[in-house]
Amino acid sequence: MGKMKGGAGLSYTSLTAQLRMLRAKPHSVRYTHDFSRPEYQSGDSLRSLAEKRGLYIGTIAQEDDTYKQYLPGQFDSLTCGNAMKWGWLSREGRLGEYDYARADAIVDYAVAQGCRMRGHTLVWGRNPPHSYPGEVDRILQASATPKEDLRSILRAHVTEVVGHFKGRVRQWDVVNEPFSVYDKRFADYTFYQVLGKEYIFNAFRYAKEADSSLSLVLNEQFFFYRDARAKAFLALVREMKERDIPLDTVGLQHHVMFVEQDIDDFRWFIGQLDALGLKFEITELDIRQKIFQKAPDMALAQAEAYYAILCECVNAPHCTGVTLWGTDDGNSWYDHMAPFAMRCFQPNAPLLFDAAGRKKPAYYAVQYALRQHREEIR
Ligand code: G3I
Repeated sequence: MGKMKGGAGLSYTSLTAQLRMLRAKPHSVRYTHDFSRPEYQSGDSLRSLAEKRGLYIGTIAQEDDTYKQYLPGQFDSLTCGNAMKWGWLSREGRLGEYDYARADAIVDYAVAQGCRMRGHTLVWGRNPPHSYPGEVDRILQASATPKEDLRSILRAHVTEVVGHFKGRVRQWDVVNEPFSVYDKRFADYTFYQVLGKEYIFNAFRYAKEADSSLSLVLNEQFFFYRDARAKAFLALVREMKERDIPLDTVGLQHHVMFVEQDIDDFRWFIGQLDALGLKFEITELDIRQKIFQKAPDMALAQAEAYYAILCECVNAPHCTGVTLWGTDDGNSWYDHMAPFAMRCFQPNAPLLFDAAGRKKPAYYAVQYALRQHREEIR
């Protein structure tokens, strides 16, 4: 086996891509609701409203226990931000040895509170040793039969982890981010270099074999929902359906990092999923406040953007839920990662609660969208 590149790092630093996005659609500055006003606010929890709409509303457990301040009060679904990633589950990074202590504590808390637990994520080729143990690359490098070896490594991992959480985790992000960040090619991960897209299909088969009751998700981030990359993704899911791969839900991360995704394109995209008989779920929602810097009030413009995407979910019968990628602005991933950690990218402040846990206009925007009946929205 020739030299493999290993999984690419997690990078949103491409300036060219950022400029392309800004040219495609300038930052929004308009807002039509003032979600700081009392007429848009109520005392209902997000959870109680989402349950009436038949949607899950979720957040994530990060390295501290902040999530316990918000769940079960506001949320009825929980995802581990990192604790279930393969590298994080591996005892001292060793392949085949697992340490479930942190993940089990999170899962047990969620289940005891009557919340749904989502698994994130079984197979993700970017960013080792967090997303998978570095030993995998070393084994394949030295192997005379890398395809066979990778198949059995993936089968063993998926079977082990799904089996461990069986009955407690209801939905798994089986494969995360199979595409390059900014273009329509498959990401050039080790897994792809060795097996091509077969690694994706196999991961779903192994997960289904290990727990046939699971909802199985293919999870991806989109900056555009109707470009060549989005269409390549749709071609992949179409092929999965044709081959009877047990995919039932598409996870749309929907991080709003540089510019808002176009809502008409989003609507087109989820229509394509519906036509294929697939459900979708927003799995990692957050909206950076800084992108509204030209608005008279950034917090209100951010709230409007939350309202717009939540309305799409409430309005789509094949949407199963929405998860916020963080609890409050005090612990968002953006503040620790390039380029967003740089001063010129701040404030990120991408969530529904501020760093002191106070409800932002964005919170009331989500609440207001959830309060409406489908027919009232448009
Ligand atoms: O735990 C170490 C700590 O010991 C060390 O001091 C610190 C120094 O930087 O790093 C800590 O680990 C970091 C970890 O987050 C916890 O904060 C890792 O370096 C960092 O890479 C890791 O980032 C995570 C990232 O995925 C990569 O796995 C983020 O928390 C997490 O929010 C982010 O989540 C991803 C989803 O899984 C997939 N979609 C995109 C999303 C956002 O990037």
